Amino acid sequence: MKDYGTNPPLSYNKYLRVPDLINLQDCLSDPAHHDELLFITIHQTYELWFKQILHEVDAAIVHMNEDRAIRASRALARVVEIEKVLIAQIHILETMTPISFLAFRDELNPASGFQSMQFREIEFSSGLKSKNILHEFQNDEFAQARLRARLDGPTLGEAFYVLLSRRGFDAPADCATLDEEERRKLYGKRTRAILEVLTHFEERFEEFQLAEKMIEHDEYFSLWRSHHVKMVERMVGSKRGTGGSEGVGYLRTTLDKKFFPELWEARTYLDIRHGEAGCPFTGHE
Ligand code: HEM
Repeated sequence: MKDYGTNPPLSYNKYLRVPDLINLQDCLSDPAHHDELLFITIHQTYELWFKQILHEVDAAIVHMNEDRAIRASRALARVVEIEKVLIAQIHILETMTPISFLAFRDELNPASGFQSMQFREIEFSSGLKSKNILHEFQNDEFAQARLRARLDGPTLGEAFYVLLSRRGFDAPADCATLDEEERRKLYGKRTRAILEVLTHFEERFEEFQLAEKMIEHDEYFSLWRSHHVKMVERMVGSKRGTGGSEGVGYLRTTLDKKFFPELWEARTYLDIRHGEAGCPFTGHE
């Protein structure tokens, strides 16, 4: 239990632990380069917002499991608004000249945003799980434990398809034990369920709202990737990353990653004649 104190009374500084907070920015350059504080502040701010995103993603999963689609949509709406801020924040870094960055960049080796534990947690809980990433955290027990929990934990996508199934759609959620052919069929069923939601968005407004917030989360996370790679190219061109990757070349390979591929895929098959052409939801054959 924290001692917020009644004597002296609680203050802004005390509640928010501002003295601790503003003492957490340790520059490695010596003498400290003017722009290194910005570099640290931006990254720490990201990590705080990542924490909040995880809090909301976890809440959205719980709400979906309780069949509370509206509440889940509200949590994801907040995630999306945070992601908009995260995109805008990238450009603050661009006020730093490339030559200023080079003045302290070597000090960062071999640390890299690639090792952002919470970024990976968001990816995992949104559906992009990867065991290989754990190698990056070999010497970090704290990160290992959190990432393993996320690897074994539920995802937004699974919770969403469980919710749809509960509400009468044929949208299987579990695909862990399926072979490729079975997986393809399951993927098709989910895409079809989303087609129903998109077509009948008024009757299925709760599901529609939720699906829209999910795709927005996917879209804005991906937009962050695009803004990040452009900023990186502007800052360091095609230099290798401090984390050891090819740099921009590697980052470009991540741009097409999707949390919820079926939500995107469904758009391809959406058709205004869907109702007449055999939509189970309307009962037409
Ligand atoms: C001058 C600023 C920055 C530069 C030059 C830069 C550069 C890079 C490079 C080259 C990589 C590829 C991995 C590597 O080899 O290091 C990377 C990955 C990454 N960076 Fe940055 N970065 C910058 C700022 C940021 C900021 C502000 C964040 C916010 C958290 C961030 C988060 C990440 C993440 C999460 C990855 C992994 C992406 C993935 O694997 O999908 N970076 N960065």
